[in-house]
Amino acid sequence: MNDVVSKLRNLLGSDCITDPAVTDGYLWDWRGLLRGSAACVLRPRSANLLSQSVRICREAGVSIVPQGGNTGLVGGATPDDIGLQIVISTGAMRKIRTVDPVDMSIVAEAGATIAELQTAAAEAGALFPLSFASEGTATLGGALATNAGGISAVRYGSARDLLLGMEVVLPDGRIWNGLRTLRKDNTGYALKYLFAGSEGTLGIITGAAMKLAPLSVGREVAFCAIESEDQVLDFWMKLRAAAEGNVRAIEYISNSCVELAKREGLRAPVGVADHYVLVELTSSRPDAGLKDVLEAFLAERLEDGTIVDAALAQSGEQQKQIWRLRDDQTEIQKKAGRDFKHDVAVPVPRVPELLRRSRAVIESDFPEATVVPFGHVGDGNIHLNVVLPATLGAERAAEQGKQISQAIYDIVLSLGGTFSAEHGIGRAKVDMLEAKRDPIELDLMRRIKAALDEDGSFNPGTVFRPS
Ligand code: FAD
Ligand code: MLT
Ligand code: ZN
Repeated sequence: MNDVVSKLRNLLGSDCITDPAVTDGYLWDWRGLLRGSAACVLRPRSANLLSQSVRICREAGVSIVPQGGNTGLVGGATPDDIGLQIVISTGAMRKIRTVDPVDMSIVAEAGATIAELQTAAAEAGALFPLSFASEGTATLGGALATNAGGISAVRYGSARDLLLGMEVVLPDGRIWNGLRTLRKDNTGYALKYLFAGSEGTLGIITGAAMKLAPLSVGREVAFCAIESEDQVLDFWMKLRAAAEGNVRAIEYISNSCVELAKREGLRAPVGVADHYVLVELTSSRPDAGLKDVLEAFLAERLEDGTIVDAALAQSGEQQKQIWRLRDDQTEIQKKAGRDFKHDVAVPVPRVPELLRRSRAVIESDFPEATVVPFGHVGDGNIHLNVVLPATLGAERAAEQGKQISQAIYDIVLSLGGTFSAEHGIGRAKVDMLEAKRDPIELDLMRRIKAALDEDGSFNPGTVFRPS
């Protein structure tokens, strides 16, 4: 191993890091559940240097763990604890290469953050639509590798839907340059879509070309209190009909989430109810009259009883306060006890049943648990998270958490849903994938993996069990 590290040091100089004080930050997963170990962490500054690093690792039979912003929630960017793997971070590759408001495309290196892409696009008068709470740290490469969704997927799609072209360093070290911005390109298999969602198991994305959208100039945000799960769905159906093209976000938040947020000093702008929905409308037209549309819509919903209270933000500051109730949930829940995440999706019409049945089972069988569901209701993607008190003790919490997850996933699958909507498989859901995925799908996935990564050296233990 010393030999490989010294070759890598010769190639990359101080961008081959072995100092434990520096590598430490690359060895934990964001949730603090996994702690890995690595021979070194590499931060190559170009695709070419990254490719040469991969060749050196390959010749030595050393496994690689790709890492972007390390905000993933399923442990896919964390090496195992043996210390023989090498983390390759894209953190030193964050140039925005082009922003073209005529072509409506942006081309950037994989380590650019989502927020940096948003800013670069806005400066050119366009919108980079991908958005989620970790956007200040999560990278373009990571978002593509996980096919991240987030709050605006309901309007613009997930990362894969925005993808135009890609540059990838393959497990054999070759660089595939597919950085095209063409809207139409039916020249054989659409390989780029294979790497989107591959979680670092098929190659390292070093750059990507992404779609832009027209810049939003108008923005309205409202927070509504709702009495029942069915009314949440009803509200969304009615909003879709009234303002379809303008809905940038429709997020569900349960009262238990809002209660946790209140404990952290946040305030809800409406009276207490079992459920809440956050709505954001945007438009690229200054004369779209979004405020009138939303005001009238909310008045009608109060009138017909779909909602029981509503607050329409009157300033940018109020919009920010409302969004914090939603965006801060991941951090708040992490602090609230031992949090068990269930990033699930069901067909949209089944969301009320999902919420009702999960709550009923958890409340009756696990009285110490608090169900804290929230999420992207417009996509049927609910984060059906559950928090157990820290006082329960690690062993009991782990045992109960397992049973809770089993109960939730059983309900999700019985409703025709999925156990991973937008976070991926990582290390956390490998067993679920093996147990629940159709054997033909699994077989095809394994063949693709074997074809691209013959040695199985790219992110072993993520998506598949290590061989
Ligand atoms: P990392 O965490 O570094 O890596 C994630 C996976 O991708 C790993 O398997 C890694 O090996 C692989 N990878 C990373 N970079 C590359 C690359 N260049 N080439 C190949 N493989 C690579 N996710 C959502 O989808 N929607 C949300 O709303 C959302 N909200 C979040 C909110 C918070 C507060 C947090 C902490 C996370 C949230 N996430 C969300 C999860 C996470 O931010 C996303 O999955 C994000 O896309 C990960 O990007 P990253 O750069 O941090 O990737
Ligand atoms: C989010 O939407 O904020 C995250 O994807 C959900 C989570 O932290 O469980
Ligand atoms: Zn989410």
